[in-house]
Amino acid sequence: MSTSQKLQRFLDLADLTREEVLELLALAARLERHPEPRALAGRILGLLFFNPSLRTLASFQAAMTRLGGSSFVISPGQGTWQLETRRGVVMDGAAAEHIREGIPVLASYCDALGIRAFAQGTDLAHDLAETTFNDMAALVDKPLINMESAVNHPCQALADWKTLDELAIPQRGRFVLSWVWHPRALPLAVPAAALHMAALRGMDVTVLRPEGFALPAAIMDRARQAATLSGGSVRETADRADALNGTQVLYAKEWGATEAYGDAAEDARLRQGLRDWCVREGWFKHAAPDCRVMHCLPVRRNTAIADEVLDGPRSAVQREAYNRLPAQMAVLHALLSS
Ligand code: CP
Repeated sequence: MSTSQKLQRFLDLADLTREEVLELLALAARLERHPEPRALAGRILGLLFFNPSLRTLASFQAAMTRLGGSSFVISPGQGTWQLETRRGVVMDGAAAEHIREGIPVLASYCDALGIRAFAQGTDLAHDLAETTFNDMAALVDKPLINMESAVNHPCQALADWKTLDELAIPQRGRFVLSWVWHPRALPLAVPAAALHMAALRGMDVTVLRPEGFALPAAIMDRARQAATLSGGSVRETADRADALNGTQVLYAKEWGATEAYGDAAEDARLRQGLRDWCVREGWFKHAAPDCRVMHCLPVRRNTAIADEVLDGPRSAVQREAYNRLPAQMAVLHALLSS
């Protein structure tokens, strides 16, 4: 996408060059300064949520309304037919309709469609290949937005980049993506997207995680490729003191053990004894004095991040959540304005 080319789909920050991301961020800032309440008048955004949401749902509806358009929301199985996503199954279970019929129908009612479909969490290769999301994307002949798929969350990544800029974190600043504790395995979408975003921004990135919780090689490799393009770097360690020394940003996120993917009992065994992976003020003794803490939300207080940090001056979580609105206004404007 350049100023002369229209954005067709917003599925992955990696589909855009660094310069194209900067253009979207400039558009987001412009729409904040100079609102365009008629830009998308008469346009309709369909929002298909296979999984729960607070920020993504509310910010997309607000963004569309602020630009003069409107939206509808479908949450399959909650007042609408349950949708089957698997290929070739005998549909004698709960789902009354297949995505092969349902998604083209929804797309025919709107000018752009957003889809949220989390990882299935049983087969790592299936999820890394974005099999379910790609099956759905192939059914949509309109502008399409990834509202979080198995291993990606580009809307969160765009908002997080905007937040880093607003916090005046240097392009080559030090960014730590840290695993934090959660009672069970969570998907890889946000850690993968945040890691890639920071690498593409050109930052010196460290993935801090306990043994057993290394991110899949495919996710690390993708981030390293982005760092190579942008002049940043990517490394990983289990040594918290080493990782946090001098860091300017700590991005906290929960995720499951790659080596126990789809095995809840083994994942639970691996995370036993890791409850001290809850971000506390004591973590920042050797960080940059004004080191900021980021998290995409929702966050569990005093399991992933302690009250003292979430309620203190380091926390940027509200800014990140707010930035979903202007970032997505920019995406919608780029996809739909004439
Ligand atoms: N960060 C994020 O996507 O929030 P929701 O899951 O509430 O949409």
